[in-house]
Amino acid sequence: MKKVFIILGISAIFAACGGNSSTKGGADSASGANQAAKAANSDADTVVAKTGTEATGSSAAPSAGEKLIATLDCSTCHKVDTKVIGPAFQEIAAKYEATDANIDMLAKKIISGGSGNWGNIAMTPHPSLPEADAKEIVKYILSTKK
Ligand code: HEC
Repeated sequence: MKKVFIILGISAIFAACGGNSSTKGGADSASGANQAAKAANSDADTVVAKTGTEATGSSAAPSAGEKLIATLDCSTCHKVDTKVIGPAFQEIAAKYEATDANIDMLAKKIISGGSGNWGNIAMTPHPSLPEADAKEIVKYILSTKK
């Protein structure tokens, strides 16, 4: 539905431009065309503005954990839906239920690093990451479950 609006908006803008260039004669009919072009233009503006608000309104704001991850090195080895060096966040979410015990255990694992649960490749430790932040991150990771 949004796409249709955008396409409508874009074609309205093109229509407006076409109208303008054909008005260079300056005859009576030209001013009519100009007004039509102006009307089309303001219509297009409204449509585009509406689409913009809809887009921001529907996308959820990133959680605290998601924001933290963006400031750390996690995405070098982890992506949400594909395995890189470490398991995908969705795989982790499928393996562990979001219980307090699991959140605790995974937060500690992020801080101290290590291997063995997914294979022989080790995750680097993150000793300066506060445990509370690590828990927020784990909550976000477990929330990516499909
Ligand atoms: C150097 C690559 C690397 C980086 C950087 C990295 N990880 Fe990992 N991560 C791994 C690997 C490899 C594993 C699998 C470890 C295992 O087999 O137990 C893993 C496992 C995990 C697990 C699951 C742990 C378990 O015991 O099942 C979580 C949660 C996780 N990482 C979160 C993070 C977060 C959050 C960050 C950023 C602070 C991060 N990782 C940074 C490579 C990395």
